[in-house]
Amino acid sequence: MRKNIVVGNWKMNLKREESLELVSAVLSKLPEDKNTEVVFAPSFLYLYKIAKLCSDFERVKVSAQNCSKEGKGAFTGEISSEMIESSNGDYVIIGHSERREFFKETNADLVQKINMALANNLKVIFCCGERLNQREESTHFDWVKQQINESLFHLSVADFNNIVIAYEPIWAIGTGITATSEQAQEMHGFIRTIISEKFGNEIAENTSILYGGSCNPNNAKDLFTQKDIDGGLIGGASLNADDFLAIIHSF
Ligand code: 13P
Repeated sequence: MRKNIVVGNWKMNLKREESLELVSAVLSKLPEDKNTEVVFAPSFLYLYKIAKLCSDFERVKVSAQNCSKEGKGAFTGEISSEMIESSNGDYVIIGHSERREFFKETNADLVQKINMALANNLKVIFCCGERLNQREESTHFDWVKQQINESLFHLSVADFNNIVIAYEPIWAIGTGITATSEQAQEMHGFIRTIISEKFGNEIAENTSILYGGSCNPNNAKDLFTQKDIDGGLIGGASLNADDFLAIIHSF
């Protein structure tokens, strides 16, 4: 059975005190009987501290927002997967469209990052998604297939078990425009089909596929009730405890 997961990707927001307050506020109101996994993706700077705050909550995990493609060495300013793991990180987000666009990360770079993360016992939240013009030109399915194919399909079945996929149409990120639940379901169903063709039906059925892009308390329920949508990768709405909790409660 695949997991429902709600991830708060804080991006480059929140000072230290604000971060700790937000985590405490969310933890104090988490539903006790729910199976949903909740993941905080704060700045690297607070990851260790937040992992400590979350350590008593079995279904709460911590994610980095990025990792180096290198293992260790003279790479000033970089953060390795080994460092994330040793700071009690559980996940790392790889392939976010902001990293692809602003930091020119290619599918080949992502392969190196994914391999490094998995070798250091991190789970990977792999992001994919098309630009608006690609959707308008009806090339969005081919594009997402290529992203997944070039960055994930070299993995063994055992490694693929540690991958969560996040479909984030770029035109929906931070714009207030959400994909309709039908558009999102259509892409999620497609992603599950290509995973099934590569790794078999059982693996595909066990892979959590999250939606990201202007997900908020008003649209989360509609998205999460779609059969192939297993949760969300939340940006803006994860910065507010009440909104993030409302999304978590949407299952
Ligand atoms: P928003 O929820 O702010 O649109 O951001 C989505 C996102 O990029 C999460 O990774």
